[in-house]
Amino acid sequence: MADKPPNNDPDGLPPLSYRVVTQDSEKQEALRLVADSIAQQRQTASAAIIFHPLCLAGLLAMCAGTYHQYQHAGYGTVMTMLSGVVIVYLSFVRFYTSGYIQRAESFRWRDFIAGPDGKEDVVIAAVYGTDVIGVVVLRLEGDEVNKKKKGGAQTNRTGRGIIRAWTTKLRYRGKGVGSDLLHLAVQTTIRAFGPDASVEFDPNHPNSTHPLPDMFLRPFKRRQQKAAKALRQALNHQGNPK
Ligand SMILES: CC(C)(COP(=O)(O)OP(=O)(O)OC[C@H]1O[C@@H](n2cnc3c(N)ncnc32)[C@H](O)[C@@H]1OP(=O)(O)O)[C@@H](O)C(=O)NCCC(=O)NCCS
Repeated sequence: MADKPPNNDPDGLPPLSYRVVTQDSEKQEALRLVADSIAQQRQTASAAIIFHPLCLAGLLAMCAGTYHQYQHAGYGTVMTMLSGVVIVYLSFVRFYTSGYIQRAESFRWRDFIAGPDGKEDVVIAAVYGTDVIGVVVLRLEGDEVNKKKKGGAQTNRTGRGIIRAWTTKLRYRGKGVGSDLLHLAVQTTIRAFGPDASVEFDPNHPNSTHPLPDMFLRPFKRRQQKAAKALRQALNHQGNPK
């Protein structure tokens, strides 16, 4: 896919390129990033629980109760018991967020990209040297443009692109790789269905479901808003306001 020229660095750094991957081994490597990103959500979720005002209030109450009970037993005992309370608190958070690891482990890349009509989703990867460092999984839904009018104009522009997963490897985030992948997803959709085609996130993408109550999902909601904004920017950049 020659959508974006490789970024050949004169300092001898590996080139960064973007392409549709077709080989199973590459798809597997790319989709592993999606599984990793599900597991990585555990850290965000843990922080959200640990620092949630209600949980902190609970921790404080437990510490106060422990102090009250052991204050006459000496400084050493009080400190030991308080450390125990904190360890129990953190262990509870660890247990509570283990669902992310289970979800990551049960992620089956081949099933994930299998479309309802037997056609696989488009897997666009960012490749740095030989490493896959980012991926966007795009489902093209509708009739692809293949008719032409006499004058050459295209018809049958009914279709939409659904972004089913979008991930950059952790240490390469914040450097523009994700934006490039979104742009390519938009370009690929427009190439298939014409400039009026819409592109949207799958509401049930792998990073959107959480094994936690809603009260702990604030950071994830903020991320979804950022993702929606990034997609709007990619669409506007292509002259497609949808
Ligand atoms: C979302 C993600 C792919 C962005 O990749 P990236 O390479 O860091 O992206 P860029 O550096 O090109 O930043 C592009 C835009 O992505 C958005 N973005 C950044 N981090 C984000 C995050 N964690 N979640 C959603 N959007 C994010 C921002 O709007 C950013 O634009 P800004 O710099 O103007 O704020 C990356 O953070 C990631 O893999 N997150 C984990 C998986 C995930 O949550 N995917 C989103 C599914 S909707």
